[in-house]
Amino acid sequence: MCGIVGAVASRDVTATLIDGLKRLEYRGYDSAGLAVVAENNELDLRRSVGRVASLESICGGISGQIGVAHTRWATHGRPAEHNAHPHTSSSQVAVVHNGIIENHNELRLVQKERGFVFSSETDTEVIVHQIDWHMQQGQDLFNAVRTTVSELHGAYGLGVVSKHEPGVLVAARSGSPLLVGLGDGENFIASDMSALIPVSQKYMVMEDGDIAKITSTSIEIFDFQGSPVERAVLISTLSDEETDLGGFAHYMKKEIHEQTRAITETLEGRLGADSVLDLPFGENAREIFDKTKELKIIACGTSYNAACVARYWFEEFGIKCDVEIASEYRYRKHVVNEGTLFATISQSGETLDTMAALEMAKTLGYINTLCICNVPESSLVRASDLTIFTHAGREIGVASTKAFTTQLVTLLMLAICLRRRRLGDGRSADVMEAEIVQELRSLPQQIENALDLEDDIIAMSKHFADKNHTLFLGRGAHYPIAVEGALKLKEISYIHAEAYAAGELKHGPLALIDEDMPVVAVAPNDELQEKLKSNLEEVRARGGKLYVFADANSDLESDESTLVLKVAPVNNYIAPVIYTIPLQLLSYHVALLKGTDIDKPRNLAKSVTVE
Ligand code: F6R
Repeated sequence: MCGIVGAVASRDVTATLIDGLKRLEYRGYDSAGLAVVAENNELDLRRSVGRVASLESICGGISGQIGVAHTRWATHGRPAEHNAHPHTSSSQVAVVHNGIIENHNELRLVQKERGFVFSSETDTEVIVHQIDWHMQQGQDLFNAVRTTVSELHGAYGLGVVSKHEPGVLVAARSGSPLLVGLGDGENFIASDMSALIPVSQKYMVMEDGDIAKITSTSIEIFDFQGSPVERAVLISTLSDEETDLGGFAHYMKKEIHEQTRAITETLEGRLGADSVLDLPFGENAREIFDKTKELKIIACGTSYNAACVARYWFEEFGIKCDVEIASEYRYRKHVVNEGTLFATISQSGETLDTMAALEMAKTLGYINTLCICNVPESSLVRASDLTIFTHAGREIGVASTKAFTTQLVTLLMLAICLRRRRLGDGRSADVMEAEIVQELRSLPQQIENALDLEDDIIAMSKHFADKNHTLFLGRGAHYPIAVEGALKLKEISYIHAEAYAAGELKHGPLALIDEDMPVVAVAPNDELQEKLKSNLEEVRARGGKLYVFADANSDLESDESTLVLKVAPVNNYIAPVIYTIPLQLLSYHVALLKGTDIDKPRNLAKSVTVE
């Protein structure tokens, strides 16, 4: 993960670097640092533990026309000032790095023999010493970086400056995102364009194996062998509007409440009068869907939970669907059946495990690759044959909320498109499709209804704030919704939360039940509700305390051991979207009571670009 910003200009770039870091904090926030080449041509290095704000407080008086900066999510070496980036070598060269260098131990041994002294426990420090070494052997900065990257194994996005060439910023990419922002008489690098919103709209995406030599007036990109390569200049559509808190105390709360609008926008242009359109999935979507017999979906975290819900829809519609976590998928052998479409789901489009799974899948004989993503300018989108955007708008809170529900809606639309192929001519909708489409259209209003439960949920949250453990239960498509509810609670309140398919309770977890273990259950009015009720009785009989989100038409009622919160009746297909909302609100309000850092929970980051 980690965020990188670099700048070269004919003005002081310190404020631009700090502002860029603040915008990239979602990528990691355990420590931050920057280095500029000052007027006396010496490197001025500032680093601090914690947020960018604490770095800013120690940057008074610093000035330079070129520099690199970094916000960190620790991999090698605990969060500490000496492990924060930039790393320097003999005060000659400064490097910021995103990724992991796998051969750092070997390089470190050689460098120690050469007399380099290490001041951190990071894998990154070997990079800066190696560049310094090659400069000592007579290479210029660009060639020293080029030689160094040929000696590295692993993943990296790098920004490098040296006091010996105060007008040259060098960037290199292999496996970690990096782009070059074009300004007017000044140029930049960044992990993503959000860092550069105030200074640049034009940018070039560096590809794996690219190395860039950047001055205030020129940008040259080469491959690692030194041959020039052309990268298209793109225009970013990002703006600052989306980063406004809009009166909410936290981005997470704002994003929960934005789901009405987010889903409206996700549906926009995708529905015909009584059908889901194929074309929004891509120019050749029709032909690809015609050929699709099975689906393999890969994702991580919350996006994986969305895929698990969707599997119930796909298989109900007669389309075989297999779902797997990206970090597992990439390290095993696969049998790919004929006619299988490979799909990835990712909010950020930058999750390294998902990207690596996609690259691997391309060699395995899938008919095509489809990506469901929220970020148009992301790596996953560029690498996929078909893309459908979730249009959730920028999600800043680390805990994913509106990205999840818009993923669900998109997956349901995909399931409907594939279902049509099972019906005969494959192109015309039937009554059932028309009914689901009407339900989809009514989703924004139904989400509003679910958001209206907030006051009751605030009252409910008081029962959780002093607890250490929680159990979440669901059945069918609401089992992964329970998993997602548990993930949200543990992420932002730090309360240990586990989710079980309710039928599994008696196979072990029932042993945990006591009055200090609140049990949350998701109980829509579906064909599994009676079974779920029996599972809830098993909890009640053992003195457990139940918190149930139940359909308003069900006969589940509150009593001394059970608090039932009634959810407005909802169609079975869209129920998973609706039942997500109260679980998000519950996590938020429990975390609020506990006083945790809701938008930036400890140890996490928004974009996971390391293994
Ligand atoms: C949890 C959360 C994470 C992400 C996961 C994948 O709230 O946000 O579990 O879902 O890191 O990220 P994306 O969707 O960006 O690939």
